[in-house]
Amino acid sequence: MKISIADRRSDLEGLTKMFVGNLTLDYISHSELQGYRAIAPGQWAKNIDVVTRDEIATRLRDPLDEFPANRDWCGVIEAHDNQVLVGLALVTTAYKTATPFGIIEDIVIDGTLRDNGRGEMMMRWILDQFRRAGLKRAFLESGFRNERAHHLFERIGFSTVSVVMMKEL
Ligand SMILES: CC(C)(COP(=O)(O)OP(=O)(O)OC[C@H]1O[C@@H](n2cnc3c(N)ncnc32)[C@H](O)[C@@H]1OP(=O)(O)O)[C@@H](O)C(=O)NCCC(=O)NCCS
Repeated sequence: MKISIADRRSDLEGLTKMFVGNLTLDYISHSELQGYRAIAPGQWAKNIDVVTRDEIATRLRDPLDEFPANRDWCGVIEAHDNQVLVGLALVTTAYKTATPFGIIEDIVIDGTLRDNGRGEMMMRWILDQFRRAGLKRAFLESGFRNERAHHLFERIGFSTVSVVMMKEL
């Protein structure tokens, strides 16, 4: 599997299709509800394809071989098997803080290719890039019912630091 930073030459439609085509209702967490992606727990926005396409498009910029150090940045990571897209991730880095950190905002592996180590490989590649960029912590958040994903995250060293609560007004 070849993992790289997506850029303006990447296949925006393919990345969008991969993301939207592999989303489940369990995926929805507070950040989906705080933006345009989801309108309620368990309910994606009707135009999730447009919303996602825009989010990805704004992150496809000049080609990079590694995450930029000492500058806040957000990007898309893509994974290919024999030049076929098999996964993507959205990541952000933040330096204006006591302890610089990276966020893995989203990670999706093609639904037909799971349980074969691709998700773990992609997570480890991203964590390595975070380290090389001088970041000291990694964060992620995930819908509380997304237990399979949590199992993977815990196995590679993540632990829960917050519980997010919500109330309809
Ligand atoms: C979460 C996600 C990215 C994981 O991707 P994946 O490629 O299935 O991940 P892996 O194969 O590395 O690990 C999944 C399981 O397969 C097992 N596995 C890995 N390689 C294996 C192999 N060769 N043979 C058998 N099992 C294997 C792992 O032990 C792991 O199980 P565990 O985490 O319960 O211990 C994927 O399920 C996904 O895209 N989900 C939808 C989107 C999502 O929920 N993303 C996370 C929220 S941001």
